Amino acid sequence: MAPVPWWRSAVIYQIYPRSFADSPGGRGVGDLDGIRRHLDHLTWLGVDAVWLSPFYRSPMADFGYDVSDHCDVDPIFGTLADADRLIAEAHARGLRVVVDWVANHTSDRHPWFVDARSSRDSEHRNWYVWRDPAPGGGPPNNWRAAFGTDVPAWTFDEASGQYYLHLFLPEQPDLNWSEPAVEQAMHDVIRFWLDRGVDGFRADAIHAIGKDPALADDPPGSAGLPRSSTNDDPATHGHLRALRRLLDGYPGDRVVVGEVYLLDTAKVATYYGDGDELHLAFNFPPLYTPWEASAWHQRLDEAERHLAPAGWPTWVLSNHDNPRPRTRYGSEDRARAAAVLLLTLQGTPFLYAGDELGLEDAVVPPERALDPGGRDGCRAPLPWTAAPGHGWHAEPWLPWPPDPKRRNVDSLRADPSSIMHLYRRLLAARRASPALERGAMQRLASPDGLVAWTRSEGDDVRAVAVNFTGAERALTLPGDWAIEVSSDGRHEGRPWPSRLGPDTAVVLRRR
Ligand code: GLC
Repeated sequence: MAPVPWWRSAVIYQIYPRSFADSPGGRGVGDLDGIRRHLDHLTWLGVDAVWLSPFYRSPMADFGYDVSDHCDVDPIFGTLADADRLIAEAHARGLRVVVDWVANHTSDRHPWFVDARSSRDSEHRNWYVWRDPAPGGGPPNNWRAAFGTDVPAWTFDEASGQYYLHLFLPEQPDLNWSEPAVEQAMHDVIRFWLDRGVDGFRADAIHAIGKDPALADDPPGSAGLPRSSTNDDPATHGHLRALRRLLDGYPGDRVVVGEVYLLDTAKVATYYGDGDELHLAFNFPPLYTPWEASAWHQRLDEAERHLAPAGWPTWVLSNHDNPRPRTRYGSEDRARAAAVLLLTLQGTPFLYAGDELGLEDAVVPPERALDPGGRDGCRAPLPWTAAPGHGWHAEPWLPWPPDPKRRNVDSLRADPSSIMHLYRRLLAARRASPALERGAMQRLASPDGLVAWTRSEGDDVRAVAVNFTGAERALTLPGDWAIEVSSDGRHEGRPWPSRLGPDTAVVLRRR
């Protein structure tokens, strides 16, 4: 039997470089050397891999998701030598490194776009999507951009007299993937980082790269929604097959996990192809699901029905684009129970840095707001120590999340009852259990307000139960079980009492 590829049993930890840690002499914006200096935290926690959000050269209109050179490090984050050193030191600790690949668009300051807009006959003109104004004037179609309300996905370029397409900011013109030179150039970017030793890519907005050649108007049902949340063109699948061949041609299990921002699990599943497209695809509906058992049952039904037959699922409850779980669900108890959920469902979990501290989003006053998409709160800096400055070398670029004196890495590490220790116990329990890492999943009949399931691989079996209600609930399970990990830290190692406290979750093992 072929060995299981690492990414099927891994827990992948997302780092947003600006917000993780700066290095000595730093200016309050996190950098690659800051990450390297804190790798101890990741090994202590027990994650398997890191995914780094973009650290490439960028004018920072979208804080790095507007790339002006894919093959260099922005001076804010350091140098290519810092990237090499980070990759090497992570590998020396057994941590895999996944980097972001922003394929749908570039910065408007990227030399390709600078050339493209210089004239209609320029070498790179067709690398982007240009159209004449609509017959009566105005944008070529009704597509809407992300960020802001009702913003056209087109900006008029006075000098060359045409509109260019941007599903995100005007500073992020969309690449034209129907131009073969674009695909080649973006494959060169992949090769550049593979040759530097990265273990894979998180492919940004990857469902958006193929465009309807007719650029038809969005129909009434989806008109007004950002096109980046509905674009689902067959051309993308061909590009993903080519990407997959490229990755699979390299030694080692290099992975591509795609951000498929279509809030429909059946559609997300199609991006696994016939096992020849994405290795993994983000499935976001669970991230937008309230803390309610019935809603979660539905999400799990969808994952079973659509994802499991298509490929290996992923679980994402948090990232740099959305309020944190502690903020969304409203209490630390729930954030703790959500940690159990994230780390025990069948699939590869993505853990966003800072959730292990139970961080809440920062309250960002309007005069300090920076992100055009209103996402500053979840990007607040990670507090490392209790002392003023919290381990940073200058005032960070965004305000602290609430309560940094108590909610920081040092203080939570010193407190065995903290949420950070809960994450560590869960990660250790996963590593020790083939069932939790990669086993089959079967949901159990459970009373209202609860979700329970088993995971099994050979003789190894675990049961998991989550109480989504604010009241104690009874749950009887066939057989004899002991509590291995509980979200409130209570009764671990003791026999399962067939009762679950309010907003708590447990991992059980057979006695
Ligand atoms: C993805 C990223 C987001 C970014 C957008 C445009 O959704 O996660 O942060 O703004 O793509 O690149």
